[in-house]
Amino acid sequence: MPVRYDDEKLCHSFEPIHVEDVEDRTHESLHLLLDREGPGNEFLGWMDLPNQKPDDLKELVDTAEEIKNSGDLLVCVGIGGSYLGAKAVISSLFPHNDRIRYAGHHLSPLELSRLLQELRNKDFYINVISKSGTTTEPGIAFRFLKQLAEEKYGSEVSKRIIATTDASKGALRKLGEQEGYRTFDIPDNVGGRFSVLTPVGLLPILAAGGDLKAILKGAQAGYREATRDDRKNMAFRYARNRKILWKNGKAIEILASFEPQIHYVAEWWKQLFGESEGKDGKGIYPASADFSTDLHSLGQWIQDGTRNIFETFLIIDHYSEDLTVLKDPRDLDGLNYLTGKTLSDINRKAYEGTRQAHEDGGVPISAFYLDHLNEENLFELLVIFEFAIAIYGYTLGVNPFDQPGVEAYKKNMFKLLKG
Ligand code: PA5
Repeated sequence: MPVRYDDEKLCHSFEPIHVEDVEDRTHESLHLLLDREGPGNEFLGWMDLPNQKPDDLKELVDTAEEIKNSGDLLVCVGIGGSYLGAKAVISSLFPHNDRIRYAGHHLSPLELSRLLQELRNKDFYINVISKSGTTTEPGIAFRFLKQLAEEKYGSEVSKRIIATTDASKGALRKLGEQEGYRTFDIPDNVGGRFSVLTPVGLLPILAAGGDLKAILKGAQAGYREATRDDRKNMAFRYARNRKILWKNGKAIEILASFEPQIHYVAEWWKQLFGESEGKDGKGIYPASADFSTDLHSLGQWIQDGTRNIFETFLIIDHYSEDLTVLKDPRDLDGLNYLTGKTLSDINRKAYEGTRQAHEDGGVPISAFYLDHLNEENLFELLVIFEFAIAIYGYTLGVNPFDQPGVEAYKKNMFKLLKG
């Protein structure tokens, strides 16, 4: 099984209440989603993306191939849903690819200056990604990057800039048309955090070396699983479990992995879940931890702090690279008992030991397992997460597809900036 979800011992550490109500409510929510009758149903285009046809993506594939074969850098300019999907997949699957850069996801003069400095001596493409075309962070970064590209490439600059934006409206669409950039559309009915299977995610991922067939195969497996009208479906169970936990006072979920290479999967998940459920005074706070590193920082709190948390582990079953511990003749550190063991075995035991300790400490636990870390399994998981948060949002009675709260900081910032 490429992706598995183990929730067998979820309620071992506490006696949950309201379980039956939740089961039925989750079932209604699954139907509301599948029948496309819930709040925000004008933003359900993401549900169809796993089933798109590779032939319809030819221009995208060709552009990604051009970038890949050029050997040049690709600078992805975007924030939130316009960068996290690509970053999650690329950093998890192609960690050796040193030709992708990110900008526009912060306002740091240090980071942007460093990038501009680097780009002065390199050839590069820019993929500016913004559905609205007016987001401050990517807008500012793109001004600087565009200016550098214009200085460098002169009349050829339009070959170097690719805009991924709304199909018909917005500032970036207008600029792209005026300047003759290549453009790719973000469908109207897909919100940023659900856009990893649109050109927002796919162009950078394919340019970094992603295999489209494997991506779609995995996404379709996730789709088939999550749309099964069956209470054993992984998206259904995960949504139901979260609702049970929330109703039982568990306000924080920690997505914990034992593989730092998938750190950004958790960052993507935090945005997907946080923006979808955190509204109307409701929702679980999505947090993350990278173990075993964080066992030496957050471990104490998780084991022994306020009991309002639960943990969902994200575990890789089989590794494509491994190391074996060698015998040390002096054995001063006393670690010779590990001689001959692989690092992946030791990591697994660290997971099993941690899981047991946290369970004993009163933390409800469940886990997703990826058979291998590859396109197929990762995209199956991402699609299951997308369906799970949509179903869970409906169980809370919120619209999982809007993000009105994001506007508050912007209003204040604009007021301050305009004096
Ligand atoms: O999920 C979302 O909708 C947001 O995180 C957006 O992706 C983010 O705010 C960037 O917006 P835009 O693509 O319009 O620049």
